[in-house]
Amino acid sequence: MKIAAEKDIFDVQAVRKDFPILSREVNGHPLVYFDNAATSQTPQQVIDVISDYYSRYNANIHRGVHSLSQEATDAYEGAREKVRAHFNAAKAHEIIFTSGTTHAINLVAHGFTALLSEGDEIIVSALEHHSNIVPWQMLCERTGAKMKVIPMDENGVLKMEVFEDIISEKTKLVFLNHVSNALGTVNPVKEIIEKAHAVDAAVLLDGAQAASHIKADVQELDVDFYVVSAHKMCGPTGVGVLYGKEEWLKKLPPYQGGGEMIATVTFEKTTYADLPHKFEAGTPNICGGIAFGAALDYMNGIGFEQIAAYEHELLEYATKKLLEIEDLKIYGLSKEKTAVISFNIGDLHPYDIGTIIDKLGIAVRTGHHCAQPVMDFFGIPGTVRASFAFYNTKEEIDIFVEAVKRAKNMLS
Ligand code: ALA
Repeated sequence: MKIAAEKDIFDVQAVRKDFPILSREVNGHPLVYFDNAATSQTPQQVIDVISDYYSRYNANIHRGVHSLSQEATDAYEGAREKVRAHFNAAKAHEIIFTSGTTHAINLVAHGFTALLSEGDEIIVSALEHHSNIVPWQMLCERTGAKMKVIPMDENGVLKMEVFEDIISEKTKLVFLNHVSNALGTVNPVKEIIEKAHAVDAAVLLDGAQAASHIKADVQELDVDFYVVSAHKMCGPTGVGVLYGKEEWLKKLPPYQGGGEMIATVTFEKTTYADLPHKFEAGTPNICGGIAFGAALDYMNGIGFEQIAAYEHELLEYATKKLLEIEDLKIYGLSKEKTAVISFNIGDLHPYDIGTIIDKLGIAVRTGHHCAQPVMDFFGIPGTVRASFAFYNTKEEIDIFVEAVKRAKNMLS
């Protein structure tokens, strides 16, 4: 595999050549893609792996005696091993392939139905995406457990002193994002995990927004569950991963029944397969899993330290430039922050700004970002969110800032 960037010299122009989509035009302008928190772009190296799979060895896995099935199985299980190594899980069977982060969270929430009862408490953070709120509310409805919330301050930073007040022997589970999708806040997850474990509560971290910027080490964090989506990490949509400590995955019942997840089936009784297959009913996203492995190879080839350092430069540059615009307010001012800027200008509607700059070739997300409680906290319907990746440039930020100024003038 060709890696465009050398370990110690980050050449963004060489990296950009790996991403064919970055050279297209949108509405007659060169594309400026700043919606990386919604989905990242795909390098040619990953596109080639997808094409190679369908051109040469498309087959169902774990079932056939034939050669193609064996090749596909080897590649899929090889990808599981790449995911294991990337997140430093102790065992490959602690890696469960899912359709994405949402599926992974629902799998765990479903499993906890059997483990919670009335009087138990679970704790969420105020910074969550709906996918890390709603499945747990449904769990509370099923079990009678109560959900408590760690609030945040005006900067979008969690109030840890309140967390210490609300956590108790009744707490069975704490779940929060490693990084906020709406504001970019990096949460103090190590401290939260330590405090949760002190009362024997399990912790699930939603790593969807962290995984493209921070290489999480699940053993070092000592986290019980860590969930991610491949499409935020230069991989395809429709595939993600649940990491779970073996002891927890053994405790949780299967989420879906079907082929592949069984050991034996009779009309009287079914016994389940061992991990990881117990949680992987039906034909999985085989090509997606293999491509996720290739995406991890690609990102590790560049190096996460390089990625974080470069993206931090972009974040600082863009923050400074945007704040020169009168009446522009940035939401989310944590010192620990990924390359995400959520903002509004006066009472201009974020959707109007997004629509105008789209006409100039710039892609951002506008709205509540599936985090309505965060927007309610600030008393706003939504924001404009620009989210940067390692293939973006300062020149693109200049174009973006000029476009925002133009939108402001048109709308004022
Ligand atoms: N969760 C994704 C986002 O924040 C889709 O945009």
